[in-house]
Amino acid sequence: MSRSAHPAGPRHADVLPEGHYTAPAADLNVLDEKVWSRTVRRNEDGVATVAGIEVTRLAEEFGTPAYILDETDFRARCRAWSGAFGTDADVFYAGKAFLSRAVVRWLAEEGLNLDVCSGGELATALAAGMPAERIAFHGNNKSLGEIERAVSAGVGRIVLDSFQEIVRVAHVAQRLGTRQRVQIRVTVGVEAHTHEFIATAHEDQKFGIALADGQAAEAVRRALTLDGLELTGIHSHIGSQIFDMAGFEVSARRVVQLLAQVRDEHGVELPEIDLGGGLGIAYTSEDDPREPHDIAKALSDIVTRECESAGLRTPRISVEPGRAIVGPTAFTLYEVGTIKPLEGLRTYVSVDGGMSDNIRTALYDAEYSVALVSRRSDAEPMLTRVVGKHCESGDIVVRDAFLPADLAPGDLIAVPATGAYCRSMASNYNHALRPPVVAVKDGGARVIVRRETEEDLLRLDVGE
Ligand code: LLP
Repeated sequence: MSRSAHPAGPRHADVLPEGHYTAPAADLNVLDEKVWSRTVRRNEDGVATVAGIEVTRLAEEFGTPAYILDETDFRARCRAWSGAFGTDADVFYAGKAFLSRAVVRWLAEEGLNLDVCSGGELATALAAGMPAERIAFHGNNKSLGEIERAVSAGVGRIVLDSFQEIVRVAHVAQRLGTRQRVQIRVTVGVEAHTHEFIATAHEDQKFGIALADGQAAEAVRRALTLDGLELTGIHSHIGSQIFDMAGFEVSARRVVQLLAQVRDEHGVELPEIDLGGGLGIAYTSEDDPREPHDIAKALSDIVTRECESAGLRTPRISVEPGRAIVGPTAFTLYEVGTIKPLEGLRTYVSVDGGMSDNIRTALYDAEYSVALVSRRSDAEPMLTRVVGKHCESGDIVVRDAFLPADLAPGDLIAVPATGAYCRSMASNYNHALRPPVVAVKDGGARVIVRRETEEDLLRLDVGE
């Protein structure tokens, strides 16, 4: 993000404070299609609409804050991903980004598979009727109970993450009289260019089994000897919110090298390779994500090329996009509460949510965009920080953004690209009630995850 000067407004000194902001858009009323879900527009009255519904109506009917999820966009992205990879590859939606029964049904209808990483996600997937064979089960510390549940449900694949787990899953499968299809997750030693906490394939972290010191080859050796397991392939996930394909190329190359080593040692050609998720989306107009068909082509070209040079049959590829499917399809609708101009600094705009519905800014220093959506304004741009209502100064939703200077309490503002890792990482901090997820489609809106109530909070509090 570049930092740039902005023509001084009445509320600001000539020199703008430190920040990661770019110059304000020429017209703050424009809702950049890069960051807003596909059916978002501004109508002739200046009110933003989604799926043809005015946001003012959504706020009236469902309250704020609320996540508004554009079902048409979600389904279109599912189709774009599965279409891009065609019939030679499988797309697994990563449920950790956002999961609900409605979403599982959409995925099932659109022909996608599902990656789950906990008993809770597995339960949601099964409750919504996702066929078990289309589910992959992940996690670096699956409990015995979770493993038993996954194996007895008949999940299509368990991704093994440690030596202990190789043995545990084999035992459970044998005890249940079955043979579980598994992949082994390896760490390929790639430093993905993303935030440290969401990069996962460098060696000094908790996921997977390292390729570099021969551990991954040893894991394959063990898995091949156990009757309860059918080892089908190798898995690698290098991180999240990545734009640069170079990390995926290195990862694919190293995984194919392992496949060649396995063929040489054991005479077995493993038929699958999973390259994980991690593809970036646009949070601001500065971000330029690649299209699914570009990504699919780049990945399958590299796998094909590497396999040819190693004399291997090309394995079936799978990928696990989470953010790239659901991220752009939702925005969070907030009502403006208090407004505090700080002379020479910026104006603090408080909304009725905060770090309990979007922890990403506080946790990863994530950048977001924001717009006034309940009306049009031609007032000059004002540098703001959009903050929540929590008892913490790090409770920031949008660190640096321009909003019109006539912003007033009661206005609705919306933060786009909050479909991924916002509701799924939401908390009850300060006993906040987690917002609902409202799905909109063709002029209709319905709650798919309801707003929490104080009764919900008190129901868990069973002490005297
Ligand atoms: N596959 C595996 C094995 C994963 O661990 C993840 C994400 C994905 C797929 C999906 O990655 P995606 O396509 O959504 O980037 N809470 C962080 C992101 C954590 C990602 C964890 N694993 C955030 O808010 O940025």
